[in-house]
Amino acid sequence: MKEEIAKIKENSIKEIDTCKDLKSLNDVRVQYLGKKGELTIVLRKMGILSPEERPVIGSLVNEVRDELERLIQEKEKQLKKEELLKKLRTENIDVTEPSKKTKLGSIHPITQIIKEVEEIFLGMGYEIADGPEVEKAIYNFDKLNTPPDHPARDVQDTFYISDDIVLRSQTSPVQARVMENQKPPIKIICPGAVYRSDSVDATHSPVFHQIEGLVVDKNIAMTDLKGTLEMFAKKCLGENTKIRFRPHHFPFTEPSAEADVSCFVCGGKGCRVCKQEGWIELLGCGMVHPNVLRNCGIDSEIYSGFAFGFGVERIAMAKFGIEDMRLLFENDVRFLKQF
Ligand code: DAH
Repeated sequence: MKEEIAKIKENSIKEIDTCKDLKSLNDVRVQYLGKKGELTIVLRKMGILSPEERPVIGSLVNEVRDELERLIQEKEKQLKKEELLKKLRTENIDVTEPSKKTKLGSIHPITQIIKEVEEIFLGMGYEIADGPEVEKAIYNFDKLNTPPDHPARDVQDTFYISDDIVLRSQTSPVQARVMENQKPPIKIICPGAVYRSDSVDATHSPVFHQIEGLVVDKNIAMTDLKGTLEMFAKKCLGENTKIRFRPHHFPFTEPSAEADVSCFVCGGKGCRVCKQEGWIELLGCGMVHPNVLRNCGIDSEIYSGFAFGFGVERIAMAKFGIEDMRLLFENDVRFLKQF
């Protein structure tokens, strides 16, 4: 039996040595050390040995098994190393090959206008304020001097969450929130989404965006409002832009006005964009109503202010020559990537 074991040892060592890959090494392992392997079979035959021989042969087999396991492990390490080197040699990476370009998106036209307007007003020392889109009716209406029977409060026009909570129909409630939380001087703009119960068509959408402006300080006059808006119009729409004010009514301003700008496409001669008018309606504005100041805890005897608000979509459409507002919300990339 000793010779048999010696033979197994000799053969297996040779075979391990000549293995060229991990697969054949594993085959050798199974052939000698596996459940039905040659060395295992020797162990099973120990029954025929005398009690004196058994421990001798047993420890011999164990010795050989340990040795084979060690050799196989070593060989395995060596083969793995060789395989890695081979891989590294054949699969070299060309670092000069141009990479796949990730497609860059573009900034949505509405966001572009908001950012541009923010930059202009930041440059004039304004801060950017924010307020909730789900708003208390008291902020959207009451504090802004808009009484309960005002038509804008009708369920036909405004989305009600409950009797006293609405989806804000304008960014103006942010005025009230800022005045309640901040002492004058106040100089803010507030961009954001607003909601109205309008059906969708080329110029209407139940959700759109506005930018609100508010200035409150001592001695603020209508001339400050006009100068500010003129400066804004020139920066946003071009140096040659003219601005005109028409009397209007808003509950939260007195006096109130609407402002038009000379058409920045035709310069005022009349074209498709301005519908042959030469002017484009831009925004609503006015001097903050003393009731609004009082409602928000500001002494209207000491302070005065102006406010304005305008629709972002309207400016985006005029500036980018977009004729249908729906395109701004459909978010078709073929449309969006043009801007
Ligand atoms: N909130 C008004 C609207 O949605 C726009 C507006 C008009 C805002 C006059 C103002 C303002 O701040 O003074 O039609």
